[in-house]
Amino acid sequence: MLVIEKLTVEQPSASALDIVAWFVYLLSAVLFVVGLHFMNSPKTARKGNFISSYGMIIACVMAFIVLFMQGFISPIAVVVLIAGIAIGAVAGVVSAKKVKMTDMPQLVSVFNTVGGGAAALVALNDILAGQHEPSLVVLITAGLGVLIGSVTFTGSLIAAGKLQGIGFVKKMSLPGKSVWNVLFALLTIASFVMLCVAPDQRLLWSILTTVFALCYGLVFVIPIGGADMPVVISVLNACTGTAVAMSGLAIDNVALIVAGALVGAAGVTLSVLMAKAMNRPLLSVLAGGFGGSDAAAGSADGPEGTMKETTPDDVAVQLVYADKVIFVPGFGLAQAQAQRELADLGELLKEHGVEVEYAIHPVAGRMPGHMNVLLAEANVPYEELVDLDDINPQFPSANVSLVVGANDVTNPAARKPGTPVSGMPILDVDKSQHVVVMKRGRGRGYAGIENELYFEDNTQMLFGDAKDGLQAVIAAVKELLN
Ligand code: TAP
Repeated sequence: MLVIEKLTVEQPSASALDIVAWFVYLLSAVLFVVGLHFMNSPKTARKGNFISSYGMIIACVMAFIVLFMQGFISPIAVVVLIAGIAIGAVAGVVSAKKVKMTDMPQLVSVFNTVGGGAAALVALNDILAGQHEPSLVVLITAGLGVLIGSVTFTGSLIAAGKLQGIGFVKKMSLPGKSVWNVLFALLTIASFVMLCVAPDQRLLWSILTTVFALCYGLVFVIPIGGADMPVVISVLNACTGTAVAMSGLAIDNVALIVAGALVGAAGVTLSVLMAKAMNRPLLSVLAGGFGGSDAAAGSADGPEGTMKETTPDDVAVQLVYADKVIFVPGFGLAQAQAQRELADLGELLKEHGVEVEYAIHPVAGRMPGHMNVLLAEANVPYEELVDLDDINPQFPSANVSLVVGANDVTNPAARKPGTPVSGMPILDVDKSQHVVVMKRGRGRGYAGIENELYFEDNTQMLFGDAKDGLQAVIAAVKELLN
């Protein structure tokens, strides 16, 4: 506990400090909003990130000054705080700089874990630290901070493990998942209500609220698998923001309230969009009613038949003699870091008079907007990226669809009931005149099931790493055109 003793530090007028702090927090909140606005477009997103991080830095420095000037922290606590800030800052910078683009979703989940846990601890401190009973408003806001923050902590931890593909986490299953879900939801809510109505027993009820909410986070995320993770990640993101906002309300900190509300609102909007993109009712995903566990998906039987292999030379001929080509990027493109090669191939074909478009599925890759960011990095014009609803009617008129490392988002199994991707809207690649799929081998997609597309009569497979494959196709196209 950092609040050890009240020190005799010479203080300025408390109200003057409060006013300065209030304005600094307001400024940091404005920087968060401006930063978020710049994140509207990939071109300005980097600037937006910097602006928001300046907001966070000044809010942290101000919080530190307020604590110190008001004499609420001892010298030991100052050292502990500075050490904590230094360790957190170094860990944050190093992990964000080193992380591969394809591992970004796991990192975001780990940040959600830390954010949710921190919000829960701040709220717990507010409930337990004072000598007097907290008011009902503080109990409700801080209690919600503890509840939502704890759910986010364990839920995001499991989500990070699943996204990282950690064996035992992916294999976890929960028989009778709905029963556990309902049980822990009821226990968590009952403890929270008791915390509010019996504040004299607040130590007991806040501990129980924390423990039951931590368990709820586990039973909520463990059964969700297959292709439904995008929705869960967005919901957990929204929870982190809400928990932080609740903690901000409890300790009356405007910067925390605004930052939390922005993350919470953005997370809720994203969850609704993701659920719509996956054609899932949001509530059903939250209740674990869709997708099935990854363990179950792994055992799904695949379609029968043989795959027809092709060569870069043959693919080059098909592309050069086509009127219209649709590129279908997926997670494998990001994994291979082959976005520049794909953009170069597109430019070559366009110079030759071929119409080229990029089909963008909303959950292709491992994070919202993954393909947009990847292709923007390779300077593919935004207008060539076509959304699912607009590109699907165009597949029958495409002479060739070139699928580069996309799997689940093209799987016709989604049109049938009973699979982990059932009901998910897919890119209608199989309706193209010819399909070429570039992937390394017979690896399955994130949902863990075989893809019927690969066995269709009009599909050919170009096996190998996407970057190597695209380089070979580019070389063959250049040879043909010379
Ligand atoms: P996936 O279904 O994950 O398939 C990617 C394919 O790329 C794999 O089959 C793999 O096959 C191939 N691949 C991997 N590395 C490659 C490389 N270096 N070169 C060539 N191919 C490579 O990808 P998708 O179609 O983009 O679908 C995304 C899935 O992730 C969906 O199920 C979605 O629900 C889920 N998900 C999405 C998100 C968000 S928000 N976008 C978040 C979490 C989960 P080989 O191993 O045979 O090469």
